[in-house]
Amino acid sequence: MSEKAPVGVSPTYRLVVVPGDGIGTEVIAGGRRVLEAAAQAFGFGIEWTEILVGGVAIDAYGTGIRDEDLALCAAADAVYFGSIGDPRYSDPKARVRPEQALLRMRKDLALYANLRPVAVQPILAASSPVREALVKDVDLLIVRELTGGLYFGKPSEQRATPAGREVVDTLTYTEHEIRRVVKLGFELARGRRKKLTSVDKANVLESSRLWRTIVEEVKSDYPDVELEHRLVDACAMSLVTRPAQFDVLVMENLFGDILSDEASVLAGSLGMLPSASLGERRTEHGLFGLYEPIHGSAPDIAGQDVANPLATILSGAMLMRWSLGRADVADAIEAAVTGALNAGYRTPDLVAAIGDQPDTKKVGTQEMADKVVSSLIESNPSMAVGTSSKTGEGGLQ
Ligand code: IPM
Ligand code: MG
Repeated sequence: MSEKAPVGVSPTYRLVVVPGDGIGTEVIAGGRRVLEAAAQAFGFGIEWTEILVGGVAIDAYGTGIRDEDLALCAAADAVYFGSIGDPRYSDPKARVRPEQALLRMRKDLALYANLRPVAVQPILAASSPVREALVKDVDLLIVRELTGGLYFGKPSEQRATPAGREVVDTLTYTEHEIRRVVKLGFELARGRRKKLTSVDKANVLESSRLWRTIVEEVKSDYPDVELEHRLVDACAMSLVTRPAQFDVLVMENLFGDILSDEASVLAGSLGMLPSASLGERRTEHGLFGLYEPIHGSAPDIAGQDVANPLATILSGAMLMRWSLGRADVADAIEAAVTGALNAGYRTPDLVAAIGDQPDTKKVGTQEMADKVVSSLIESNPSMAVGTSSKTGEGGLQ
């Protein structure tokens, strides 16, 4: 661990970067340039350590992630992650799969809370498949439990029985696992519009009944937050029929996986949505976390400079806010993304979503990142050095 930077001396943040597979390398290249530009504008340093994870690591080392690379992640301030996934390893019978590496990182780095904000950029509101009037005021945050439930429960196996094949996956949660993510949901709601929706399937599942009981217990510490319980099926429907009613939603792992993809269409393109996976460990600057776009490796468009880098760039903003305590830098990056969009620049996914519009210009991955860099520099010509703000997104203490 390095010493905390004395006041007036610019800090250097230690980031592990994982380009990964497919378009991961391209979007991370763009995201890195934006963070480097922010470092110059705001007067801090970044020490990058690049590692291989995913299909590229299976090719190079025979495993999705090596122990020593996991240790590098554990020692860093944060991990900046592109995407992993490779069709060469997608056979259900494959013994090693890139996705296992991501699950191992989540588990071993104790990244228990996945934050997926869905906010609609006003200029893109018409590109959502959901009517503009319904999406224009959407500003919600999904908090997904990330290290428990069906993803990790044992046993998880197929077995042969005299009556044929049989399969089991196990949904396990401890009280501690539920309570810590629910508390985080309340904290985040408290810093936003003070409304929390807890999603479960308490009419059927025992796990959901404990979930709901614990939510009710935690609620007494947050009398200022309005709480509602919603069943996951009904909630899935409301996410498209009345999405603007939601503020913070908290739920277990698999429900969160499904509802967050559903919610992502509200913003017009998967290529717009960032995520943060937060752990309990405090670094000298904030909370340790892993930051990645919610889209996958998109092998069909890899290597063509057409992927949208904005989700990765916005994930970089979340990294600055959560792991480095730099809400000032995060705000500037987010404003620069809005600036580039308002100036008319569109990657092909955004053009496809809305059709050719007057006053817009189609750009590739790297040019879009360059436009964000220019917008960042234009609006922040000379920034104060090392002014670290400790207020997190949503006011988490
Ligand atoms: C996600 C992804 C992952 C998940 C896959 C790649 C394992 O869908 O981050 O939502 O299911 O969690
Ligand atoms: Mg998913």
